[in-house]
Amino acid sequence: MIVAIDGPAASGKGTLARRLAGHFGLRHLDTGMLYRAVARAVLDAGGDVENPDARLAAARSLDAGQLKDEASLRGAGMGEAASIVAADPAVRDAMLAFQRAFAKTPPGAVLDGRDIGSVVCPDADTKIFVTASPEARATRRYKELAARDGEITYQQVLDDIRRRDARDSSRAVAPLKPAEDAHLLDTTELDIEAAFWAAVDLISGS
Ligand code: DC
Repeated sequence: MIVAIDGPAASGKGTLARRLAGHFGLRHLDTGMLYRAVARAVLDAGGDVENPDARLAAARSLDAGQLKDEASLRGAGMGEAASIVAADPAVRDAMLAFQRAFAKTPPGAVLDGRDIGSVVCPDADTKIFVTASPEARATRRYKELAARDGEITYQQVLDDIRRRDARDSSRAVAPLKPAEDAHLLDTTELDIEAAFWAAVDLISGS
């Protein structure tokens, strides 16, 4: 079984995908981590994420070990850099085979990202597009980041989310948009528990 969970930054899709994978006994891949790891590899090598050669070289040489340092990959700056490398079609292409192989490995998987239902796994058994208002997402992400970084403000987090939404939605390749056959799940008014059970119902009913 393959479940595709897509949605904008800080929509709660990662937490949801992890819990769904546990519930249904599937593997889980947070595909945003791939783009974050590519961005970090470029920066660690002293390169610039705006440089197409540097980001393609990093994408082609990415290995699973580079996904391990989750805490640093999840930092606010890395999300912005990831959004820049993710707009490059050559980088996206280099990530495809890994994601598809992961999805198909038994017993199947829950993948979360932006283009899982539309590009990576168009034949997924269930596709869910998770949304929430930018303000609701900024509030959630701010709480998460403020625990680690006392300097960060709510306004910075909201601005970052709006900038990334705009870039992720307007890029030419695999823009952020629901697949035609995706179920929409708006979590603005739902806590994680309610969102989780709504998603379980969608998967069980597919
Ligand atoms: O989900 P996230 O915040 O970790 O994702 C980081 C960036 O990677 C995000 O701005 C968009 C990009 N991304 C993407 O383009 N396609 C995916 N499948 C996952 C993430």
